[in-house]
Amino acid sequence: MNFWQSLEKPFAVLAPMEDVTDNIFREVIAITAKPDIMFTEFTNVHALMSEGREDALINLEFSGKQRPIVAQIWGVNPDFFKESARLIVKLGFDGIDINMGCPVKKVTSMGSGAAHIKDKMLSAEIIKATKEGAGDIPVSVKTRIGFDKVETEDWASFLLEQGIAALTIHGRTAKQMSKVSADWNEIGKVVKLRDEIAPSTIVIGNGDVLSYQEVIEKSKRYGVDGVMIGRGIFQNPWVFEKEKRFHSKEERIKLLILHIKLFEKRWKGKLPDYRYKGKFQVLKKFFKIYIRDFNGASDLRQRLMECNFPEEVYKIDEIKSINIS
Ligand SMILES: Cc1cc2nc3c(=O)[nH]c(=O)nc-3n(C[C@H](O)[C@H](O)[C@H](O)COP(=O)(O)O)c2cc1C
Repeated sequence: MNFWQSLEKPFAVLAPMEDVTDNIFREVIAITAKPDIMFTEFTNVHALMSEGREDALINLEFSGKQRPIVAQIWGVNPDFFKESARLIVKLGFDGIDINMGCPVKKVTSMGSGAAHIKDKMLSAEIIKATKEGAGDIPVSVKTRIGFDKVETEDWASFLLEQGIAALTIHGRTAKQMSKVSADWNEIGKVVKLRDEIAPSTIVIGNGDVLSYQEVIEKSKRYGVDGVMIGRGIFQNPWVFEKEKRFHSKEERIKLLILHIKLFEKRWKGKLPDYRYKGKFQVLKKFFKIYIRDFNGASDLRQRLMECNFPEEVYKIDEIKSINIS
């Protein structure tokens, strides 16, 4: 039995999000309000197989607190998928997910991500190769309901015939990007197809879900085994909390400090100053996730944005006054 099968239903999943759901942010969320499963950001199999794979390997760092955790990969070369799957097994992941849904041009123009929807032969090869490399570790696919038109039945039926452990279906076509609402009726259709074609494959619905309460609702209404939440975490770092609670300014600032402390633990002293500073600049996009929904949040955020290093953050009065023991 693979881990997907042993989950209590309905379960909630943190979506893979490039430059967002990295090891540090996942650790914050695992400590704060943990989802039942986490995915890494997508990682390119060609990069993983290249000489300079160090940067790509950073994407595949994780801690035991984040389990069960699934590594998501993308690319076009089946051999690289197989070798990457072997590597991911060695790294100790619980599952491997193939990205067949990314609509971004730099990805689709290479024939990968959502472009797989247009090439079933290559998709079948990639899934087969990944399964070979994965051995006993379950292989799943995350995709959309079509490329430039809705073709749920045709595409999902094909995927379900490939013997995958789980299928995440984002209720939009690639062409729609994230501009229209997700079509959950199409997601419901995939559940029915699964019942006919591959009853043991887990189906996860994805698109526009903003709370754990909605995870339950969507599962009841559309029959999905689990629900994946992506952008909902931008509005609420406690989005996976089973019972909604009020979160004070102090709790929110503590999350920010936790994120920065984890950042320092990973990177302080390990990079030249200019690169460390650059990485800290990138971290700033998380400020608006934590520093919100209290009086004075926008003013505090502005002062935080002016900081160049963590030490400067700790000098701000509101931060200094927080007891972080
Ligand atoms: C910033 C960002 C980065 C994303 N990166 C990935 C990715 O690496 N792999 C992937 O499968 N989907 C990626 N997605 C898509 C999300 O996983 C998810 O399918 C999409 O946001 C819809 O879910 P939501 O409405 O809950 O946000 C990304 C989305 C965002 C907003």
